Amino acid sequence: MLEKLKNLETAAAEEIFKITDLASLEQMRIKYLGRKGLLSQILKTISSLPKEEKPKIGKVANDCKVKIERLWKERFDQFKETLDQEKDKTLDLTLPGFPIFVGHKHPITQVLEETYQIFAGLGFEIADGPEIEEDFFNFEALNIPKDHPARDMHDTFYITEEILLRTHTSPVQIRTMKSHPPPIRIIAPGKVYRRDADITHTPMFHQVEGLLVDTETSFSDLKGILTVFVHQMFDPETKLRFRPSFFPFTEPSAEVDISCVLCHGTGCRLCSDTGWIEILGAGMVHPKVFESVEYDPQKNIGLAFGMGIERIALLKYGIGDIRLFFENDLRFLSQF
Ligand code: PHE
Repeated sequence: MLEKLKNLETAAAEEIFKITDLASLEQMRIKYLGRKGLLSQILKTISSLPKEEKPKIGKVANDCKVKIERLWKERFDQFKETLDQEKDKTLDLTLPGFPIFVGHKHPITQVLEETYQIFAGLGFEIADGPEIEEDFFNFEALNIPKDHPARDMHDTFYITEEILLRTHTSPVQIRTMKSHPPPIRIIAPGKVYRRDADITHTPMFHQVEGLLVDTETSFSDLKGILTVFVHQMFDPETKLRFRPSFFPFTEPSAEVDISCVLCHGTGCRLCSDTGWIEILGAGMVHPKVFESVEYDPQKNIGLAFGMGIERIALLKYGIGDIRLFFENDLRFLSQF
């Protein structure tokens, strides 16, 4: 009996170190320590032993059980440890995360959306029109007939004699008035095209047009609206200057300057030492324009303005070259 127990112990010890996976370890436990296992089978025979041998054998059998259990536990712990280490290899919570590059809106889109917000606050709705436009809407109806010298200014991309890429968003004024009766209060954002390319011009750029037509509109409304816009887009300290100018479709016309965003008016390279920077064109809608859309020039008064969004963005962010907006260099774009 003692011999049997000793052998069982040695066999268990040998077997246990050959085990390489948890499932076999569990089988080994059942084989030796289970209810119908090898040890139980030996223990069952104790009852048939002579009375005086029982306690001694009983003790040895118990020691044997404890030893096998301890061996088993040690092996089990080793497995657990390596399992934990494996887990650590696949998921190390202490490692820094991988950076995730999240895209965002293009700076021009951001400035456009800010512009919508400001004008929405003043009750303006958004209108649009085609980028491939008819000569009539882009020029003729805006009081720019075929032989008008103002056409030179526009450096137009013509598709045919009558079809062109719109050179400004002003044709949307015409389209809107032709399809809607007064009063009108719209802004028309969009792409425009001119044959021009240098550090302040790109062949395609964005404009936002504004048009308000009502019975009692005045130049001071125009000043008020543009002042609100400039103060919200730049800062409330920015000064505005309305300089007399000429557009065939407005009378009177003005160009609007703001106090230089860099030097605030003292003079610097950006404003060519004038303290002022031009940002948009504006004026009161010309009666001829009303005639071309069959609005009564006696009853309606309109104000209109148009601005280049790239220019606003350049000034807002202090950027020196307009072409940066279109090169799609992430080092540039990710700064906004
Ligand atoms: N359309 C003009 C331009 O592109 C801007 C403008 C719009 C001026 C409306 C006056 C009124 O230069």
